[in-house]
Amino acid sequence: MTKSFYITTPIYYVNAKPHLGHAYTTIAADTAARFHSMKGEDVYFLTGTDEHGDKIVKAAAKENQTASEYADKISKLFSDLWPGLSISNDDFIRTTEDRHKRVVNYILQKLFDAGEIYYSEYEGLYCFGCEQFYNERDLVDGKCPDHKEEPAVIKESNYFFKMSKYQEWLIDHIKSNPDFIRPERYKNEVLAFLREPLEDLCISRPKTRLEWGIPLPFDDKYVTYVWFDALVNYISALGYPDDPKFEKYWAASNHIVAKDIIKPHGIYWPTMLKAAGIPMYKSLNVHGYWNVSDAKMSKSLGNVIDPMHMKDVYGVDAFRFFLMREMSFGLDSSFSEDAMINRINSDLANDLGNLVSRVVTMCHKYFDGIVPDGRDEDLNPKSDFNLRVSAEKAVAEYEESMEKFAFHKGLASAWEFISHMNKYVDASAPWDLAKHDSTKGALKKVIYNLLEGLRITAGLIYPVMPSCSAILNDHLGLGSEENYFHLENLKKWGVLEPGQKIMKSIRLFPRIEKEVKEEEPVDMPVKLDPPLKPDITIDDFMKVDFRVATVLSAEPVPKAQKLLKLEIDMGEKRTIVAGVSQAYTPEELIGKQVIIVANLKPAKLMGITSQGMMLASISNDGSSVITLDRPVKPGAQVK
Ligand code: ME8
Ligand code: MG
Repeated sequence: MTKSFYITTPIYYVNAKPHLGHAYTTIAADTAARFHSMKGEDVYFLTGTDEHGDKIVKAAAKENQTASEYADKISKLFSDLWPGLSISNDDFIRTTEDRHKRVVNYILQKLFDAGEIYYSEYEGLYCFGCEQFYNERDLVDGKCPDHKEEPAVIKESNYFFKMSKYQEWLIDHIKSNPDFIRPERYKNEVLAFLREPLEDLCISRPKTRLEWGIPLPFDDKYVTYVWFDALVNYISALGYPDDPKFEKYWAASNHIVAKDIIKPHGIYWPTMLKAAGIPMYKSLNVHGYWNVSDAKMSKSLGNVIDPMHMKDVYGVDAFRFFLMREMSFGLDSSFSEDAMINRINSDLANDLGNLVSRVVTMCHKYFDGIVPDGRDEDLNPKSDFNLRVSAEKAVAEYEESMEKFAFHKGLASAWEFISHMNKYVDASAPWDLAKHDSTKGALKKVIYNLLEGLRITAGLIYPVMPSCSAILNDHLGLGSEENYFHLENLKKWGVLEPGQKIMKSIRLFPRIEKEVKEEEPVDMPVKLDPPLKPDITIDDFMKVDFRVATVLSAEPVPKAQKLLKLEIDMGEKRTIVAGVSQAYTPEELIGKQVIIVANLKPAKLMGITSQGMMLASISNDGSSVITLDRPVKPGAQVK
């Protein structure tokens, strides 16, 4: 029978727009999902939104909307975001759906009937931001550690879940199942917490105080407490208790969360499951926090990173790669665009991109783009690099790390192999082998090995960079059949068929130019006219999309010597940055019709994203912008 794999993200609150943190967790879950489908497993991937509670009521009131309207709006922002980040979730659960409420009711009633829930008066310190009672010892300077506000003293009658009675059982379960909470540091955090006596959990709020929730089936003057509602999503989405999906996936369940919600997931959830007689989840995988400029991302600090914007500027695969490679799963990380550009340039443009274009170009140069039969030749005598051994090692280490959600390590293993291949190219010097008939056999071997290495690389990058992986597979003429992504095929050597046609080279990842320092010339050193460049084909030329645009406004870029920021009408409005301020005043350019390279990858110059490049003649005599002879509709093509 096919093995199952069930992966979940937290369901996100709908009190604010999605940000980088939500994107990270969901991309990590997607990476795990894709990795397990490479292993041939039957994968089910769940994400969704958490829509009840006071926070949402307050956020909605601010916008003059009902909680329900507001929840619909924000939930849609999440569900609309995911396809753009190549998220392959099978389901999206909302806690306001009937299918969810039904299961919450079922479990509450079951626990109530079993005497696991009781009614009692309680006085405590309550933080409205967290929707949670606090003990004195949990407060920092008398304030909620998260919201930095003094909690209110609240006395009321409520329903309680007998969580305390499961303390010993939980300690034991965590200790005897080493993968239950991981990485290790978080397991220790939960165990440390369990050294203090565990209290019973208040699971209700009176309706007089909070209406936006699921009413208790046994007392409709109360609604469930947020966590008792939210955590149940992981099984309500599987149609617990009757749907065969529950049977099929629950035993293989893996949760991913960040460290902020380790307590509800590491303590409340397992005890709830235990009390309800439901089998335990398999693993809780906890990651750290992304900070921005060393501070927690928050609306009030104004340092919230918008994943949609990052994806638009850098491309979805590059963005996913950066997040998965940069953060050691479990530790905090600092986000900066500078770090992202560095990684994209070094790991993607340089290491991977150059390797692909070198190998593909050589295959065309020496073998007309046909995979040579180099399987039987001896290893290239000039090189002691054994690619096959290196590939086997990389794939084995990769598998071990990906299995444990150590995505950064998995990628590091893949990149060791990539770097090995780059060294192999240099050490075996195919350009020398091509000079003599006696070394033609060795040349075949080297090129074959490299192509085979690229095939394996295409598989290794699939979970993190699915589009790029598909492009590479297409290039090698493998098609994108699932078969070629199968992990078992990456453990084999010699899968690529000789005689197969390889496509011409394209650049997978162009370098990204960083913000330009003041002194540096921008796009044109103007000393001497450079010599004419080598011939290109008409196909190469046709890849460039030239368009007519009208300059709507122009202004100097502060602190830059040569740059003007232009707003242009190109059928659509765009911003571009052009290095022509020494030759033109802003006023001179406004109204001019110019020619734009419209499909140039956006680049950031002095903090401004330039969405294209304006054509101009640049020489010692100064710059001259290319304009049109007579008026043309903005957006018209130039051929
Ligand atoms: O807690 N770095 O929802 P939430 C990394 N509804 N990840 C981050 C992050 C950051 N700076 N900020 C947020 C809730 N996250 C509950 C969950 S589950 C039954 C209910 C991610 O919208 C991370 O996954 O506050 C974190 O655990 C989650 O968003 C919290 O999302
Ligand atoms: Mg939160």
